[in-house]
Amino acid sequence: MPENPLPVARSRAEIFDAIRNFRNSRQTIGLVPTMGALHDGHLSLVGEARARTDRTIVSIYVNPAQFAPGEDFDAYPRETDSDLAKLAEAGCDLVYLPREEDMYPPGSLTQVRVDTLSDRLDGRHRPHFFYGVATVVARLFAQVRPDLAVFGEKDFQQLQIIRRMATDLGFPIEIIGAPTVRAPDGLAHSSRNAYLGEAERRRAGALFAALHRTRMRIAAGAPVGECLAEARAYLRAAGWDSVDYVSAVDPATLEDLPDGPLGEPEALRLLGAGHVGTTRLIDNMGPAD
Ligand code: PAF
Repeated sequence: MPENPLPVARSRAEIFDAIRNFRNSRQTIGLVPTMGALHDGHLSLVGEARARTDRTIVSIYVNPAQFAPGEDFDAYPRETDSDLAKLAEAGCDLVYLPREEDMYPPGSLTQVRVDTLSDRLDGRHRPHFFYGVATVVARLFAQVRPDLAVFGEKDFQQLQIIRRMATDLGFPIEIIGAPTVRAPDGLAHSSRNAYLGEAERRRAGALFAALHRTRMRIAAGAPVGECLAEARAYLRAAGWDSVDYVSAVDPATLEDLPDGPLGEPEALRLLGAGHVGTTRLIDNMGPAD
């Protein structure tokens, strides 16, 4: 197999050297943090970063701090060779593959918690999750010091938490949210889709359909509570094994919107999560999606 020509930094020291070289030649840097098992959604984030900066760095690190005991940390797909080939093709300039000691030096005690936003929606079902995400992203920001970082809108709550964290901690980094990339039936691309069997994959598309239908019903003036209850019932009828939530929230605060007819509010985000088989899926939709 021909060697992948894409430069790879495999430690803090190596990423610092690479960044120094980019900075010495006055190049701007875009960062796309990932956990690997890259799909078209990730590659679209690389495209967004490339369009806005001189150099695009993609980090691949399966972050143990965002998995609870019993979650899929061990099973999470690790496909570094094919990831590197995809990133070379997508025009990425450098890949950062930190080791555990680069992200969490021995004796590490510092965590980042974005209160309130982390406790709503997914935070109720995965209480550890957003603390792990904010902590690792803050550490990546501190190491890579990019001008801009790109995250998928697919993980909308994560995106809002990272925006808040970057503002609160004063990181001079522009946070870009990139649109969700979907399969023809609407299923959002996700590395966890790889866990779905054929029949499960057919059921998975129901979340997009439920959110879309809810958005249309709310815009037509139906009461929010009724629309959300219908969406949950729709998912159960479509064979979803659990529905953690389908919620209509204010996108900035992630607080539930009041019940009753809303019409076409600008500040609306619909989010849903649940399980098909043992695979947990999430998705969301804004008024213009
Ligand atoms: O969205 C992800 O893949 C992860 O949560 C992130 C942002 C790379 C942090 O580990």
